[in-house]
Amino acid sequence: MRQESALAEFHDLAPAEESFRDAVLAGLTRRAKSIPCRFLYDERGSALFEEICELPEYYLTRTEMAILRDYAPEMAASAGRHAQLIEFGSGASLKVRLLLAALEAPSAYVAIDISREPLRRAADEVAADFPQVPVVAVCADYLEPLRLPPLPERGEGRRVGFFPGSTIGNFTPEDAVAFLAGCRRVVGRGGALLIGVDLKKDKAVLDAAYNDRAGVTAAFNLNLLERINRELDGDFDLDRFEHVAFYNEAAGRIEIYIRSRADQIVTVANRSIRFAAGEHIHTEDSCKYSIAEFQRLAARGGFRPGRCWTDRRRLFSVHLLESA
Ligand code: AVI
Repeated sequence: MRQESALAEFHDLAPAEESFRDAVLAGLTRRAKSIPCRFLYDERGSALFEEICELPEYYLTRTEMAILRDYAPEMAASAGRHAQLIEFGSGASLKVRLLLAALEAPSAYVAIDISREPLRRAADEVAADFPQVPVVAVCADYLEPLRLPPLPERGEGRRVGFFPGSTIGNFTPEDAVAFLAGCRRVVGRGGALLIGVDLKKDKAVLDAAYNDRAGVTAAFNLNLLERINRELDGDFDLDRFEHVAFYNEAAGRIEIYIRSRADQIVTVANRSIRFAAGEHIHTEDSCKYSIAEFQRLAARGGFRPGRCWTDRRRLFSVHLLESA
């Protein structure tokens, strides 16, 4: 279905809505309790994540922004003239503005996101601020196989995907390979992908980034229980659970859990769930890669590693991957 909005062209691919209830009940009734991290992002969770991005300990967002600011002209030159820039999970479309300002006569900016109204608003804002760039908003689940509508073309530009924020780190390595292979299909032969990846580093720096002094990351994690209370008639007592996050050096990832402080029984959607004292709900992993490790992962997804930009402290990386 295609609808015209004032500024951006809007396509609704009607992504399937996932049941929070089914996912929570399945996750809380298995032996090792877990809930997929995508459920952390209800309205409150998304607002808390924005606060996380401003925290002194959470270096990821500001470091990636600085890399994009410093190297956007080089990235734009690598993308080439008339590129069709395709962002997977575009959110507020903030970081992409640095690229759009640097690209030479881009054919289009394609914003793909599952949240319909925020997508429409953000795409219209980009279209207003970059009137020379045709903006196409596609409401879709970018984790599912994707068939894009015909895109505006201006000469011989290529497709360049954009996936900032190190969201790739929240996938298992196997899921990351599958996602990269999906991106490869979207950008096609001769296409490329610009992707932000958090780097391995000192454990103390990583532990601090996910255990901030102000307690915002803890609130973000525990909001999952509040969301269950709000939406699934749960009765979690927030004082009887705590946030746990640590860097597992052997596995190369931050692991995030909610830990029960006591033996207790909680009701969720009329089901009784038993927790032992010290029992965990796994809520998120955030994998960290060396540059070489990520390049090997990219190769498994069908990309040839290209240039890689980092900050002076080598905290974060932005890779250009060429479709193999
Ligand atoms: C969205 N993602 C890249 C964040 C990360 O760092 O893995 C999510 C996050 N979880 C807690 N703090 C930030």
